[in-house]
Amino acid sequence: MLNEILLTIAALQGRALAQSCPSLSASYPAPSVASGYEARLVATGLTKPRGIIFDNKNNLLVVERGVGVTSFTVSGTGSCVSLQNKKTVVGDNTLNHGIEVSDDGKTLYASSMESVLKYEYDSNGQSVKGDGKVIVSGMTTEDTVTRTLLLSKKKKNTLLVSRGSDENIDLSTVDINNGQSQIRIFDPSKSDVDYEQGTTLAWGLRNAVGVAENPKDGGVWSAENNADNIERDGFEIHENNPAEELNYHGIASDADNPLMNRNYGYPLCYGVWNVSEIPSAGTLQVGQQFAIAEANATTQDAFCRNDREAPRLVFQPHTSPLDLKFDSKGENLYVSLHGSWNREDPVGYSVSVIKFGSDGQPTEGSTSTSALTPILGNSNTTACPENCFRPAGLAWDRNGRLYMTSDSTGEIYVITKSDGKALDASAPSASAAPSKGYSVAGVVIAALTTVFAYFL
Ligand SMILES: *[C@@H]1O[C@H](CO)[C@@H](O)[C@H](O)[C@H]1NC(C)=O
Ligand SMILES: *[C@@H]1O[C@H](CO)[C@@H](O)[C@H](O)[C@H]1NC(C)=O
Ligand SMILES: *[C@@H]1O[C@H](CO)[C@@H](O)[C@H](O)[C@H]1NC(C)=O
Repeated sequence: MLNEILLTIAALQGRALAQSCPSLSASYPAPSVASGYEARLVATGLTKPRGIIFDNKNNLLVVERGVGVTSFTVSGTGSCVSLQNKKTVVGDNTLNHGIEVSDDGKTLYASSMESVLKYEYDSNGQSVKGDGKVIVSGMTTEDTVTRTLLLSKKKKNTLLVSRGSDENIDLSTVDINNGQSQIRIFDPSKSDVDYEQGTTLAWGLRNAVGVAENPKDGGVWSAENNADNIERDGFEIHENNPAEELNYHGIASDADNPLMNRNYGYPLCYGVWNVSEIPSAGTLQVGQQFAIAEANATTQDAFCRNDREAPRLVFQPHTSPLDLKFDSKGENLYVSLHGSWNREDPVGYSVSVIKFGSDGQPTEGSTSTSALTPILGNSNTTACPENCFRPAGLAWDRNGRLYMTSDSTGEIYVITKSDGKALDASAPSASAAPSKGYSVAGVVIAALTTVFAYFL
């Protein structure tokens, strides 16, 4: 009898929850969520959503590739987020990835393969006035199409624009004046500046899609998507080399930044991941860079070591880090990993976190192969990329919840700590505590998702 009553209560609770937090379901197996976290699918049916950001009124802005910029209003507590009132803010099918918005919510920036555009934006109505003004142009290439944007919070009128290579191994990028595989700095108040006129922060970066500024000290970090089908001394070594790289560019707002204008190796030098599969590895170790010449590559490793900037951290090859977002104290750096194609077993397809210390640097050393701690991933990566979500953009709302787009499936997820608690507890409104009901919802979600176990 008692059992029956308890069961009935449980059933009623379940129904109440279903009503209070309508859940969306995905076509692929429920994601794996690491213990201590919660994740919920909050939007479907988008067109290749890439970069995302919140404006000063806590509206979510999304770049839908081939559509433009769309917006959603955000409501709900804990992980029970509801995205509503979808609007097209900018209809422009050339916009494909980069997005930024000024702190006062009055200026919106977005990028196409060719240019960076600036719009007069109204965050009250999520609308723009007039056409976009081109502020940076001349960026068209054959291969990489994203132009990541980062507005510095530490230095006014400082916009970083990252641009990749024209092909897998693009030898033309050995010339700094070719303006590819670089991060350059622009004054966004100026109009129509050619990319090659920007100030070079860093070069020799194959395709640094993720770019972030540490709120603690203003240090700039980028995540480099490294080359495919690499050979050395005539041997195919692409399965477990080269590493994806997390590179450090110093404090861009510092006039005496010693890392200004440094070269990070591409297209001559590549991060080591698996030493034992590199022919004539000599003294190479994880996190250093190796040369890929067709003969006697070893003799050129010294050049890579002495004349090129090594990564600060390396990640498993082909995981494809696309976005980087620090929490508000610079203690954790979240990374979206879009996932592999150029290896036998799929890897990546997850969101991971990197611990940062009070010195503004990662706590792991540069030779670590375990700097990434996965928090949300596909539970069956064998089925990737077809039957998986693919993480692209990341953004924080003012309640310290992290949002992730999946471009391949047209979805948005929200990630919190267990019981819907803020992932970034120091966010402006993170103390807005989730209601009790949702802590039960958290348990339900935790039960629905496979406990994180199959990640590595
Ligand atoms: C490194 O290469 C060796 C030899 O092929 C292989 O056994 C090992 O699994 C690889 N490890 C990683 C982490 O790639
Ligand atoms: C490679 O090294 C060998 C032995 O030092 C030398 O004979 C040969 O010319 C070198 N090849 C190239 C392409 O530098
Ligand atoms: C994972 O996906 C593969 C490929 O689609 C499939 O063959 C396999 O059955 C799946 N495994 C599980 C446990 O569902």
